Parts: sequence; structure tokens; C-alpha cells
Amino acid sequence: MKILAIETSCDDTAASVLDNHIILSNIISSQYFHSKYGGIVPELASRAHLNVISEIVNQALDKSNSNINEIEVIAVTTEPGLHGSLVVGSNFAKGLALSNHKIIVPINHIEGHIYSALIDNRDLSFPFISLVVSGGHTALFKVDSYTNYELIGLTKDDAAGEAFDKIAKFIGLGYPGGPIIDKLAKNGDPNKYNFPRPMINEANFDFSFSGLKTSVRYFLQKHFDNNDFSNELNNIAASLQESIVDVLVNKSIKAAKHYGINSICVSGGVSANSRLRHKFHNSGDKYKVKSYFPNLEYCLDNAAMIGHLAYNKVMENSSKFKALNFTVNSRPIRAPKKV
Ligand code: KG4
Ligand code: ZN
Repeated sequence: MKILAIETSCDDTAASVLDNHIILSNIISSQYFHSKYGGIVPELASRAHLNVISEIVNQALDKSNSNINEIEVIAVTTEPGLHGSLVVGSNFAKGLALSNHKIIVPINHIEGHIYSALIDNRDLSFPFISLVVSGGHTALFKVDSYTNYELIGLTKDDAAGEAFDKIAKFIGLGYPGGPIIDKLAKNGDPNKYNFPRPMINEANFDFSFSGLKTSVRYFLQKHFDNNDFSNELNNIAASLQESIVDVLVNKSIKAAKHYGINSICVSGGVSANSRLRHKFHNSGDKYKVKSYFPNLEYCLDNAAMIGHLAYNKVMENSSKFKALNFTVNSRPIRAPKKV
């Protein structure tokens, strides 16, 4: 069964072709022009998707040596995300499905990230704790199967990636800030500055990162004349990264212990962070919890993870996916139950 998957929920236009669970192509076009605005401009994002979506889908088909007639299923991200961006991908997919008589499978982007860890970690099995951590989301889930999972923790304000991006903007680095801070931090001392670890000791699995950027700003204003911290950038980056990573690792392991689960999957853009990977592996050894990460190409937004989940949904019940009358839903994920 060949699947064409389309993902346009934020600022990446992505398409992928799979043959059952095998990924044949995974094409991503990223909208780098947002960096000059210091963040994503939604209206520009949807227009840019519109300009390239047809070309990206054709590239995904070509690279997989497939034509549209061989595709049986079209999968598309319909929630959550930027409304205009979701509409572009979803309407493109509906048009293709209608004109070529295909089954269409609407997919939740966060669920795509959750199950992306199963793409190439063949020894991973249910249940597992999933940390989805990106520019738009920071959430913990208890995952029992492809159809059954529970949201157990959520950020109360900013996502972890948003904290990296906003602090990087404030200290004059580019956008997105996460990869730049990751790189600078490699030459810095993570213990040089003791930035706060928000909510780390609270008896829940929630997060909060908006206060961190204020703390960092006040700290820098107080300790560096004329905001000149250029000689300390590596140490500031390493210390800031350490505080965010400590919270993410600590809360995820706490969740694993609470539920008696010994696998943690980490996905979403921030899961590309080298220090996060290192600390998860180290703490995993200490607490007897194994951590799993998708390959880098499936960590950031991509369509292969959307196709992967669609394949599993169709295998379970293909007759469910005939209707074209679904709509997009840009609303973020809901608040979790208290534990
Ligand atoms: O999943 P993603 O591509 O898009 C969504 O936000 O859904 O994630 C993008 C986020 C950005 O905030 C970016 O700064 C962060 O992931 N990011 C990183 C790294 N690579 C990307 N954060 C920390 N370290 C990295 N190496
Ligand atoms: Zn994402």
C-alpha cells in the first residue's frame, strides 16, 4: 500500500511517500525567510506553502519512483498548527484525493511526533512515556498503543523551543535559536550561571518556560554593563540550555517512575538538542529508563511521521477514511488531568 503524506502545520512544507511502513521519500522545504522577523509570520507562512506545495509533492512522488495512480492513501496534517498553513495542506490533499479517488486520512501533528520514535527504533514497544518538545509544544504523554494515549503534562505558557528562540532573539542570536544555542553551548560551561529550573520540584508533570526568559534578561542586565556579554555567550548558552534540559529530563523520568514504565521517547524539534540527548541517556542509565529518539530527519517537522501514523490507522480500520468533509483545527492541545 503506497501512502502520500503531506505536512504544512507550521513553517515547513513537507511531503513523503511510504510503501506500507517503509519510507521511500521525505522532502522538506523550510521557510528560512522568517528569521529576519525573529519568528514565524503566519500569513507569510501560508502563502509560502501555497507557492511550493505542488512542487514538493511532485518531488516526493518522483524520488519514490511513484506516480499518483499508484498511491492508495493520502495522509494530511489537520491539527493543531497555524490555521492558514493547515488549510493549504488540507485543501491540497482533499483536491488530490477527490480528483484521483483516494482514501484520505486526517492526522494530528502531535500524534505524528509521538509515534515518530517508532519509525526506526525497532526494539521500542508499548507502553512508553512520550515527551513532545518543539517550538509550539511541550507535553508529556503516557502511550499505550497506536490508538490509546493520555496527556499527562503540558506547558502552562511557552514551549521549550519557544524559550530557546525568544532568549536567543533577546541576546542577539538568529532564529531559530535552539540550534544556535546548542552549538555555542558546546564550548561553554553549563554550571557557570545558575538559571532557574521552573516547576522542577512540583508534584505534577507540567512545565512553564515563560519566566525563564525574564530571569535571564534581568540577570544579564544586572551583571553586564551596556548589555555587553559577547565574551560570555558560550557560557550563557550552556547554562541556559542546562536549565531547560534539566527540567525536561527530570519531569520525563519522574513520569516514567510514577507510571512504572521504562521507556521514554523524545520527539519534536528540541529533541535534536545534543545536550538533551546526552542527559537522557545518562539519566536513563541511572534510573533504569531507556530513552529513544527518532532519527534527526524525523525529529523536526516532516511528512514521513504523518504517513507512518496514517499507515497504522488504515491497517486498523480502512473503511473509516472515505469522507472529505473534515476541517482543520488550529487549537492547541487541551490541559491535562491532574495527577
Ligand atoms: O518540531 P519543530 O520543527 O516545529 C514545531 O515547533 O512544531 O521544532 C522547531 C523548534 C524551534 O523552537 C527550534 O529552536 C527547536 O525546535 N530546535 C532546537 C534544536 N533544533 C531545533 N532546540 C534546541 N536544540 C536544537 N538542536
Ligand atoms: Zn512539530
